[in-house]
Amino acid sequence: MLRKLFIGTALATSFAFSAHAADVKEVQMLHWWTSGGEAAALNVLKQDLAKEGYAWKDVPVAGGGGDAAMTALKAMVAAGNYPTASQMLGYTVLDYAAAGVMGDLTETAKKEGWDKSVPAALQKFSVYDGKWVAAPVNVHSVNWLWINKAVMDKIGGTEPKTFDDFVALLDKAKAAGVIPLALGGQNWQEATMFDSVVLSTGGPEFYKKAMNDLDEESLKSDTMKKSFDNLAKLVTYVDPNFSGRDWNLATAMVIKGDALVQVMGDWAKGEFHAANKTPGTDFLCYRFPGTDGSVIYNSDMFGMFNVPDDRKAAQVALATATLSKSFQSAFNVVKGSVPARTDVPDTDFDACGKKGIADLKKANEGGTLFGSLAQGYGAPPAVANAYKDVVSKFVHGQIKTSDEAVTELVKAIDDAK
Ligand code: GAL
Repeated sequence: MLRKLFIGTALATSFAFSAHAADVKEVQMLHWWTSGGEAAALNVLKQDLAKEGYAWKDVPVAGGGGDAAMTALKAMVAAGNYPTASQMLGYTVLDYAAAGVMGDLTETAKKEGWDKSVPAALQKFSVYDGKWVAAPVNVHSVNWLWINKAVMDKIGGTEPKTFDDFVALLDKAKAAGVIPLALGGQNWQEATMFDSVVLSTGGPEFYKKAMNDLDEESLKSDTMKKSFDNLAKLVTYVDPNFSGRDWNLATAMVIKGDALVQVMGDWAKGEFHAANKTPGTDFLCYRFPGTDGSVIYNSDMFGMFNVPDDRKAAQVALATATLSKSFQSAFNVVKGSVPARTDVPDTDFDACGKKGIADLKKANEGGTLFGSLAQGYGAPPAVANAYKDVVSKFVHGQIKTSDEAVTELVKAIDDAK
């Protein structure tokens, strides 16, 4: 496991963080929260810790979705230079835990009652071998549309309830001379959108079988082909300059009214919030057409490393602050996500946040809460990377047909397992 985890280290060391002798009164945090909304959310945490006398040693690695950050983290860990904590997604936490480099926050968890307040779906990834190794920060969900309200009014659009409605709405925007769909042509963004397309095309059971159970029959089925065809349809509504565009720049196109809609996780709402935009007035949040009732989730976790004893107090302070009820509300209001605890009131959240909290509860109770394959909660990182790669090749025309796409997907996932 260690070897597998640290492959790519030579490449990663090019990120070369100076070996910083961490102070006992500081929290060293690796993360990829570098957009306006993300940075604003992180500030909430910095301020909470400052009040307790802990300094913040920021280790930001830009790149939405966190691939670059995870490469940098590998290099640090391989060099024995453990940060106090790192932002991580689901299966990555489990990989590091299996490699034996994570700390043990169980005592804090017991004292704080995390077993009772953190949903089981998150405990699956924050508890390893009976020990708490990570503190969940939030729950994001990816099956959302983010729509500019003024553009929607201008084209006379209404909430699309089905995939066909969505296509009709995109056509209206096109006819009005607005870019219909804001997308960043990076593999993780394309795959994040495709998560929603698969759920919409195949329904909840199909999503689970294909994207969480990796059932081969489902992966190569006609339904999966249809999902790729639907993705191809959506890509026809994207502007020609989309390749390589960062996700927050795509969000900015919607905020400014240059584009009608973005399909993105609710971290996009953090950008609307940072731009002082209000749901219902300036923008609209709808579930991706045909996915209402289900939630495809991911959760940012602070993976806690096995730091030397004299740095553990800072780590406990970080973990305690992260899962405090007041922080869970204040942070998630700004971040666009919803709390990682079930007992935080929705009072301070805007309409989209309130819907997010209610949807999560309903999906959790109804068995329609599913891990995002693009966002580290469907399968281990190697499989998720294979998936992102195939989806992206399809979007950029290196894989030409949906027939070919499903064949490549099955093969890539098989190789990665
Ligand atoms: C996700 C992460 C979010 C958000 C997004 C874009 O992986 O869970 O918190 O930051 O990347 O950077």
